[in-house]
Amino acid sequence: MLNPKEIRKDFPILNVNVHGKQLVYLDNAATSQKPNQVIDTLTAYYRNYNSNVHRGVHTLSIKATEQYESAREKIAKFINAPSDSLIYTKGTTDGINLVAHSWGLENIESGDEILLTEMEHHSNLVPWQILAEKNGATLKFIPVTESGALDLSQLNILLTSKTKLVAITQMSNVLGTINPVKEICRQAHALGAYMLIDAAQSVPHMPVDVEDIGCDFLAFSSHKMLGPTGIGCLYIKKAILETMNPVNHGGDMVKEVTLNQATWNDLPIRFEAGTPNIADAIALGTAIDYLTELGMDQVQAYEEHLTTYALDVLKGLSEDFIFYGIPDPTKRGAIISFYSPEIHPHDIGTVLDRQGIAIRAGHHCAMPLVNGRLGLPATARASFYIYNTEEEVDMLVDSLKKTLQYFNR
Ligand code: ALA
Repeated sequence: MLNPKEIRKDFPILNVNVHGKQLVYLDNAATSQKPNQVIDTLTAYYRNYNSNVHRGVHTLSIKATEQYESAREKIAKFINAPSDSLIYTKGTTDGINLVAHSWGLENIESGDEILLTEMEHHSNLVPWQILAEKNGATLKFIPVTESGALDLSQLNILLTSKTKLVAITQMSNVLGTINPVKEICRQAHALGAYMLIDAAQSVPHMPVDVEDIGCDFLAFSSHKMLGPTGIGCLYIKKAILETMNPVNHGGDMVKEVTLNQATWNDLPIRFEAGTPNIADAIALGTAIDYLTELGMDQVQAYEEHLTTYALDVLKGLSEDFIFYGIPDPTKRGAIISFYSPEIHPHDIGTVLDRQGIAIRAGHHCAMPLVNGRLGLPATARASFYIYNTEEEVDMLVDSLKKTLQYFNR
């Protein structure tokens, strides 16, 4: 089992005081904290070898290029993908938009259907709404059950020969639900549909193997997995990537340019026009090293343990709060959304903050799920990572009790 007390030593921010209390950081689904190793990688780049990639013949540029490309190799290996199928993006949202603007615009036609779910983050919904409107496609949605799972009894009704793309989150950022993407992918492919996975919440927390899942597209973000903000990755199956056109044009993505035309560079660089986010890509590589050393099986097992503990102790508050998501901790990630009919989630978040506890309150960029399906104005959400402890869960419970007292409940 991972030892969070040891892990915490690598995260300087966990010693910060908030309102005079040591920070209890439970907003990891929004963004994770960064270990010294990642912070040091960033400063080492800027202090020692800051220069552009793929262009220079000088020593610094060669080193930056080597580091940038070796990070790509590590990240690709982490999800069991070939490195020439892994594009650096700004994050999950950027990756999904790239698929929509390139493959989607050219392949999704009038009459086609795009199958999503009711639990998607806006980033795996709005790009498809825009594309469907532009190209005359129709959106369909797998419903969410009372317990917070996908209602897969609807899958063989919703998935038809008209379905061109199935785009699904592997882990809900609101409910923590882990969706059976491999099985859904198998069924999508059997009907000739393509499969995209929003892996923003899954890749940081569990082993993910694109070869095993068989998906066509998979996007994730660095900042939720110990890496810097502003960098992420998009995996695209090689045979599909070879048919796709870049959406951004300019330097680095070209091979030959004349006054009137240009040819594209090799994969995947043709999708990375302009000077890329070099430092953050290299530091994401360090975050991958960190997680690889811990072992993603271990990461998942520890989070399952902590979620089991949290669900158990939070039961004591079930008269005052409704807790959402599948009760079985093996079928969900370390994300717990809750709601009090008496106290607005933003008030809960503010009172907890006064006690040093950071959670998120809001619709979590999933308005159709939170406002629509759950019928709530917002939820409060606690989300855990490798450095969170049972003691911190106890502090959350105590603080929620204090919050109830504060509001005279
Ligand atoms: N998608 C992030 C969250 O769920 C920002 O908080």
